[in-house]
Amino acid sequence: MDPRHGRPKCSQDPQCLVAGDLARGMKGQQEVLLALFAAPPGDEDALFRAIANLAEVLTGSRAAFLVAVEDESRVVRSAFSDRAARACAVPKERLDGTIPHGALWAECLRERRPVFHNAISSLKLQTSGHIPLSRVLCVPVLDRGRVVAVCGVANKPGPYTRADAERLMPLLEAAWNLVMRGRLELALQEREGMFRALAEQSLAGVGLIGPDGVVFANRALENLSGYTFQEIRDLGPQGFAQCIHPEDRDLVMARHRARMAGEAGLPDTYDFRLLRPDGSARWVTLSVTRVDVRGQPHVAITVVDSHDRHEAEQVREEAFAQVRRTLDATVLTLSRTLEVRDPYTAGHQRRVADLARAIAQEMGLGLDRVEAIRMAGLLHDIGKIGVPAEILARPGSLSPTEMALVQTHCQVGYDILLPVEFPWPIHFYVLEHHERLDGSGYPANKKGDQILLESRVLAVADVVEAMASHRPYRPALGIEKALSTIEEEQGKTLDPDVVRACLRLFRDKGYRLP
Ligand SMILES: [Fe+2]
Repeated sequence: MDPRHGRPKCSQDPQCLVAGDLARGMKGQQEVLLALFAAPPGDEDALFRAIANLAEVLTGSRAAFLVAVEDESRVVRSAFSDRAARACAVPKERLDGTIPHGALWAECLRERRPVFHNAISSLKLQTSGHIPLSRVLCVPVLDRGRVVAVCGVANKPGPYTRADAERLMPLLEAAWNLVMRGRLELALQEREGMFRALAEQSLAGVGLIGPDGVVFANRALENLSGYTFQEIRDLGPQGFAQCIHPEDRDLVMARHRARMAGEAGLPDTYDFRLLRPDGSARWVTLSVTRVDVRGQPHVAITVVDSHDRHEAEQVREEAFAQVRRTLDATVLTLSRTLEVRDPYTAGHQRRVADLARAIAQEMGLGLDRVEAIRMAGLLHDIGKIGVPAEILARPGSLSPTEMALVQTHCQVGYDILLPVEFPWPIHFYVLEHHERLDGSGYPANKKGDQILLESRVLAVADVVEAMASHRPYRPALGIEKALSTIEEEQGKTLDPDVVRACLRLFRDKGYRLP
């Protein structure tokens, strides 16, 4: 007894004991709160212990536990407060798994509300090694109406009241959010780890570029570029441009900036040359996608080595160009062979070829068709090789028989060129170059669309060149006469579009026969 107040000494006074506990509790509360936030991410056991400790301190209890349940029927994780763990000899494994029906907290789970046991007289519910319990308060943690965890506190010096439950519930709700956030972070970390492992293992170069430069580069990208990720990152926001060959740099960087700015319609895949630190260049194929990372625009890139393919393509292109040069030379030789026999038409085929090419271009035909028409022009009269030279060179008019002989040159030309494997059906254009829209031509009196467009172009060029030049049987009529003639024949014997293009060339664009 304290003689001054007639009260028991503090060390014996239950009130005084509680007050001391509370005072210690205030300090302890701070510590356990800090412990709650200091729990290492992903360590849910540590977090559970910290929550149990906090519940214990907050209610002035001497023991606490937290169990997480799944489907309200299975314990998936459990933890004691540090003090309870020291005092309890029940192996932890026995607490996980199926919920023991008789457990004090199972009632709270079933009823989904706090449950008090302030006067536990019998220990029959307690397993061996369990802390002796005098009082227990169990509080459920609810998620969308279902119990996901139960927190139990025990052995408070005084009875548990509703106030204890009400103090505990918001704490548990907040703490459970921490658990959920931890799980989410863990899942995100796992996913990030998975993607990182995938990217790292990828044989293709994989990288991520943000506003501040390269933020990720896998090993394959390091190998391809010759730079380590650290080196590329240290180059800064635009510095990685130095990894790009100077001839490709402007284009690649312009596309990169436009993509980061959200511009649409940019190519997703294209080739360019990497410039390695040793100065060597390497062709790569880039696939690129814009992604948002934490609200910031980023560009995800995949880079594949395409150097060998490019080299092979170059060799193939060179070989193709070589074949084309040989073909050109062969055609020119053939063309000149005819001119040796027929000096009056010397140069006729070359001039027709040039004019036909110019008309085809003026009409907007593709490069390939333009080239085919030019080559057909060079060879269109090759069949005259079968006509006796004296007939070709004779001044004055020809007899009907001689005329018929000259007219065979279309068919003869066709027969000569048929076995030659040109990239285009040039033999048809040669066969048809004297056909006319109205069917008045030869050798087959074809009409309109029966005549190939290429042949119709040749026909106009042939007429213009023939009239503008000197012939054994007449002097040159001049280009003006030639143009007015095709203008008259426009839509009758000659294709109107071809004639229009030809007139534009001479009258508006200053074209002259070579
Ligand atoms: Fe001809």
